[in-house]
Amino acid sequence: MTTQENNPRYVWQKTYDGSYTLFDCKYNQSMHSQHGALSECRHVYIDPTLELLQSSQDKVFSVLEIGFGIGLNFRVWLEALLQFNPALPVTIEYESFESHPELLDFLACNLDSHTLFASHTSDASRAELTQAFLKWIQKHPHQRSLTSEINMSREIKIASEIKIGNAPDLILTCPDNHFDVVWQDAFSEKVNQELWTIDFFKEVKRVLKPNGTLLTYSVASAMRRRLEELGFECQKRRGFGGKRECLLATLKK
Ligand SMILES: C[S@@+](CC[C@H](N)C(=O)[O-])C[C@H]1O[C@@H](n2cnc3c(N)ncnc32)[C@H](O)[C@@H]1O
Repeated sequence: MTTQENNPRYVWQKTYDGSYTLFDCKYNQSMHSQHGALSECRHVYIDPTLELLQSSQDKVFSVLEIGFGIGLNFRVWLEALLQFNPALPVTIEYESFESHPELLDFLACNLDSHTLFASHTSDASRAELTQAFLKWIQKHPHQRSLTSEINMSREIKIASEIKIGNAPDLILTCPDNHFDVVWQDAFSEKVNQELWTIDFFKEVKRVLKPNGTLLTYSVASAMRRRLEELGFECQKRRGFGGKRECLLATLKK
């Protein structure tokens, strides 16, 4: 464990697969699994999202992430899109909510190819992606919202935005029936209660397209009951690392 001197709240941790996560002392939790931050993110969020993208008929494919964190899900998503074959037939939208602007400041100063990208510097497109991501995150660290097109060599059209604020408030500003997928990646319900309530999930339901999907690492039964009450069909998937299961919940509306 190494503490960053400019913000003792956040501590980098190297996980089992060689990738890094951040421990947040305020929540007393790590942002990803100790079994492998990158592997967890691929398994829980990216692989199922790619399958949904492959079967999508729409011209725009939109992802909403609850909790930007260190942007690991986002970066791995970009990497997956770069490798997507055949070329993407659609525009990709990515929007994320993050309540702690100081986290973005911290990232702008402390992200480098050693930490977040340690295990991914092997080929040129990844190096290019790393640079594009760093430039993006460092662009306007003090603005309320970051909007930017990340352009990469394969000309993937990606509109990406981080909105700074409380997710239950920010989600009220999103249009109805807009997102294909919501990545629910808050800290656990014990410390991040406001992001697991039925009222919050009602809003998630409103902003999802009919048959949209919510993905999360948690399979807590109380949470699944809330989702089912709102019309989600909950499917437990094989879990990652220490967790036996994770969740894919499909909206039926
Ligand atoms: C588990 S981490 C997310 C990890 C991230 N998805 C990644 O790939 O790096 C949870 C994030 O949710 C943020 N968060 C906590 N409460 C929030 C709230 N009420 N609204 C928005 N973001 C919140 C935390 O600051 C933290 O960055």
